[in-house]
Amino acid sequence: MADRYLNFTATAPGRFLTRRLGLPQPAELRRWSPERPALDGALLHLTAGSSALDLAPVLTRTGLRPGGADPAAVVLDATGVRDLDTLAEVHAALRPVVRSVATSGRVLVLGAPLDPADHHQSAAQQALDGFTRSLGKEIGRGRTVNLVRLTDAAAAESTLRFLLSPKSAYVSGQVVEVGAGEVAAPADWDRPLAGRTALVTGAARGIGEAVAGVLARDGAHVVVLDVPAAEADAHRVAERLGGTALALDITAADAGERIAAALPDGLDVLIHNAGVTRDRRLANMPAERWSQVLEVNLGSVLRTTDALLAKGALRSGGRIVAISSIAGLAGNAGQTNYGASKAGVVGLVRSLAPRALAEHGVTVNAVAPGFVETRMTAAIPLFIREAGRRMNSLAQGGQPVDVAETTAWLAHPASGTVGGQVVRVCGQSLLGA
Ligand SMILES: NC(=O)c1ccc[n+]([C@@H]2O[C@H](COP(=O)([O-])OP(=O)(O)OC[C@H]3O[C@@H](n4cnc5c(N)ncnc54)[C@H](O)[C@@H]3O)[C@@H](O)[C@H]2O)c1
Repeated sequence: MADRYLNFTATAPGRFLTRRLGLPQPAELRRWSPERPALDGALLHLTAGSSALDLAPVLTRTGLRPGGADPAAVVLDATGVRDLDTLAEVHAALRPVVRSVATSGRVLVLGAPLDPADHHQSAAQQALDGFTRSLGKEIGRGRTVNLVRLTDAAAAESTLRFLLSPKSAYVSGQVVEVGAGEVAAPADWDRPLAGRTALVTGAARGIGEAVAGVLARDGAHVVVLDVPAAEADAHRVAERLGGTALALDITAADAGERIAAALPDGLDVLIHNAGVTRDRRLANMPAERWSQVLEVNLGSVLRTTDALLAKGALRSGGRIVAISSIAGLAGNAGQTNYGASKAGVVGLVRSLAPRALAEHGVTVNAVAPGFVETRMTAAIPLFIREAGRRMNSLAQGGQPVDVAETTAWLAHPASGTVGGQVVRVCGQSLLGA
């Protein structure tokens, strides 16, 4: 779906006029392509406080060259920030360089976990959260600002690479926690999912189709699951991606068992993407509208997850990613059913993540898209659609591929230290921020 306003502001008269009128200035985002897989330019590595992180080996593998002038990315290691004095070093380090960060570039702040025994450290580290979100709102020109809390750079390599790449173009204002521990580095970082099987529900079109495409690009054999009515589209997608189609209504009571039967060798990646809306204000919402949405978006996610884990169908090192929504975080008029279902997904992820990792070696995370340009959002009336598109720090809608790239990062074999996270792909939406 074309964003005509973005195209208009990219022209000289468009820029002039929209600036004079004080209207949003969306920049065209730089997304991943095979020809340009890395951000072009320099990476500036700064430190606030004294850090024990061994970042250099990971940063050299981002494809960015070390340097200072007009950086494509700035990494500020603030893990050593413990009090107000070291917090002031964050200001001192970034203030002189923030203007020079390239269009569609990255500012990545690295923080430490909050120390419950030290309220000065906790205050200073939590301050990074508000700092990151505020800078994200003011930096403009398609530049993103994110915070990663970590203790070990090697354990966070997949996360750092993702956030310092064009794959995270629409991810901003996020705080991600990465645990410590051994990670399984892939033999080939360009095809990390080679030899793995990934099942994506609702993959015949829209975001699910994009997720299947990115997982296939990353080397996975993809299983494109969708309702029997969408079987022809599912086959078309599967054929294009060298995968297989599975016609199945995910709300079927035995959906988990049927998936397990269709994949006797098990699977590595399970993406709960199928979702529906049946909007009505609560006072006018019949019970079937409520239950249809709860069944597809939450009931089936709970049931199939339970069935596949109980059967051991998800191999150790497996990944579950559920697609939530900012409607589940912020709420939305007319969507009590949808908001409840998508918030329920967050509850499931947070509760299950530690147990699934301990008992099955499987990580569980959620991705919460904001306004994404799909058939779902193309159907929204023009003015509401325009408002939805602009109400975020990047002043534009996301693309299905933005959700797909974020999902692929969480599905990555080296992302075993990322669990229980809810990552918004929303251009730092003002809703529920
Ligand atoms: N588009 C957005 O802006 C947006 C924003 C936030 C969250 N999301 C979420 O992202 C996911 C994908 O959204 P989309 O915009 O691509 O929607 P879409 O309607 O284009 O695609 C959804 C797919 O799910 C399939 N599906 C529906 N019910 C199913 C069932 N019972 N069993 C199997 N498949 C079923 C549909 O046939 C369809 O192919 C959904 O969970 C949605 O709630 C979308």
